[in-house]
Amino acid sequence: MSAAEISDYDFRALRDAIRERFGIDYDDSKQYLLQSRLQARLIKRSVPDFGAYCRFLSSHRDREDEWNELASLLTNNETYFFRERAQLDILVGPVLDESLRARGHLRVWSAACSTGEEPYTLAMMLLESHRVARGQISVLASDLSPRALERGGAGFYRELSFRVCPPEIVQRYFRPSESGFALSDEVKRLVTFSRLNLLDSPGVAAVGPVDAIFCRNLLIYFDKPTQKRVVENLARALRPGGYLFLGHAESIVRLTDLYEPIVTAQAIYYRVKPR
Ligand SMILES: C[S@@+](CC[C@H](N)C(=O)[O-])C[C@H]1O[C@@H](n2cnc3c(N)ncnc32)[C@H](O)[C@@H]1O
Repeated sequence: MSAAEISDYDFRALRDAIRERFGIDYDDSKQYLLQSRLQARLIKRSVPDFGAYCRFLSSHRDREDEWNELASLLTNNETYFFRERAQLDILVGPVLDESLRARGHLRVWSAACSTGEEPYTLAMMLLESHRVARGQISVLASDLSPRALERGGAGFYRELSFRVCPPEIVQRYFRPSESGFALSDEVKRLVTFSRLNLLDSPGVAAVGPVDAIFCRNLLIYFDKPTQKRVVENLARALRPGGYLFLGHAESIVRLTDLYEPIVTAQAIYYRVKPR
């Protein structure tokens, strides 16, 4: 079968359906990117062109399975251990202090956790702080992509994930194997993975109440209305006064008034206002 081309009409239909379901925004400049990412799916599903593929996604009995494939295929899962360290230090510093003082435990949620490097970093840093017993912390981790979550659960990582990871951490919590590093059960046990689409308002609210949410390097893939919808969903999962951490290229200052920004010399993060 020769490679199918996507028409402008089918591109717009697919783009709108993807945005509605996942929030991910394929703007006009990404028409050919989408075409090349989906070409193999047409072959897999034995459909002759993109129009037929759109119909498959809207009405075929296996459409939900196909959407799950797309959740893995269309997401960018770039991540690594100890990414944007300054924010991590704030969690293990003032946020942990406040939570221990007020409630005696910390519940933190990595809400777009990709392959697990972010929640495992949080767990390792909490262990390294020597200030909390195992029963005082829970690290929740969720993502849209089934394939990324599977890799997170496996806890096996290659060199690239350790690009800024302190060597003593690798030594303490990982076991070298032939082609990478396997994470110790001690850390794996602290993190609970689940699948969640952050557009799903009841699903997001049901995760709460948590003390802090890391939702970093996700909003950049969404248009403004979707960004607003997601951060407002997340506000409902935070306990009153809880904290939201975004990626350093992401800001919600003019997007919603549910949060107040906290600006330090090292990082910016947000506190949800009392409701
Ligand atoms: C670039 S990764 C960020 C990983 C990590 N937070 C970090 O900063 O290193 C973005 C993640 O967002 C996930 N994602 C995309 N759309 C999503 C949605 N609607 N709900 C939940 N996760 C989503 C992707 O699957 C991907 O794993």
